[in-house]
Amino acid sequence: MNSIQRRGLVNASVAAVATFAIGSAVVFAAGGPEDVATPTPSASPSASPPTPSCTPTWDVVRSANPAEVPTTLLAQVDASVGGKVAINHARAKNLIGAFHQPRLVLIDPETLGTLPEREYRSGLAEVIKTGAALNADLFGILETSIDALRRRDAALLESVVATCCAEKTTIVEQDEREESGLRMILNYGHTVGHALEALGGYQTWLHGEAVAVGMAAAARLATRLGLTDARTAERQLALLGAVGLPTRFETPSPGEVAEVLRRDKKARDGRVPFVLLKALGRAEVCFDVPSEVVREVLDAIHGGSTSRPGPMPGQ
Ligand SMILES: NC(=O)c1ccc[n+]([C@@H]2O[C@H](COP(=O)([O-])OP(=O)(O)OC[C@H]3O[C@@H](n4cnc5c(N)ncnc54)[C@H](O)[C@@H]3O)[C@@H](O)[C@H]2O)c1
Ligand SMILES: [Zn+2]
Repeated sequence: MNSIQRRGLVNASVAAVATFAIGSAVVFAAGGPEDVATPTPSASPSASPPTPSCTPTWDVVRSANPAEVPTTLLAQVDASVGGKVAINHARAKNLIGAFHQPRLVLIDPETLGTLPEREYRSGLAEVIKTGAALNADLFGILETSIDALRRRDAALLESVVATCCAEKTTIVEQDEREESGLRMILNYGHTVGHALEALGGYQTWLHGEAVAVGMAAAARLATRLGLTDARTAERQLALLGAVGLPTRFETPSPGEVAEVLRRDKKARDGRVPFVLLKALGRAEVCFDVPSEVVREVLDAIHGGSTSRPGPMPGQ
């Protein structure tokens, strides 16, 4: 396996720069945390996942030698690190994908000054995910920095972006191609989040908004299963709410979400693996969450005042 070398550099105007050794492109055919093979709303419940021909795609990916310059918060703290690349297929988002490390990731948090508010908040969901799942100190800093987060304080963002990149890089260095299961931890909040995105036809929810509701679900699940104390869930719900992210959903119905989860390709006997927290900063993958408990939690976070995502930008 190719190793990833992080040589993270930080300076005044370019807050976080990470370079990675380039690995050969490796197919992750529609199975990774950031790809979605769940059906679109128009797909029939019994339809099998499509198996598109992808030979030309690998040729394209192998010849690429990219440098990435992410300009959204979400891309700076998450998508630009880790080498997951994909293209959409008519049947599902990110259906055709590969692992392919960029030659260079160049991040300048000053670009965030012009990011639309809703996109910025969506990125904050991945920041909160990183704190909740991997770094309790980061989570604590976020809790005490709500005003600075809201006004996009440059020094805070520079430090937060660098911390998130470092945390994700540490995981990816150990499980670059999602072979050991460690990388699944980066999927915190994404199980329910991906289902919401897909059921909304990728028109209703921004990725981070759906992940925020997914984290609210995971937080309640962990408490309900006795994995962690109620305070851990309360802190997550409070932080998500404080930055203006949703923690509940109105549409689709809990039954539709449960059905998508049941048919997830990673599900065994109708049970889909969930990333849950034992404590802030300590995530683990749970394979035996009873589907009745999942449904109970979905019912509990359905409807209510913090459930409506804003309109899509440009609409
Ligand atoms: N590959 C991965 O590991 C991974 C991880 C997390 C998320 N994702 C995926 O990434 C996608 C989201 O990417 P994104 O957040 O970069 O969104 P995006 O590239 O779609 O950009 C969102 C919007 O913001 C605008 N924009 C971007 N930068 C701007 C700036 N600095 N100022 C003003 N406007 C700006 C864009 O023009 C666009 O309208 C989601 O589909 C998600 O599933 C992938
Ligand atoms: Zn994500």
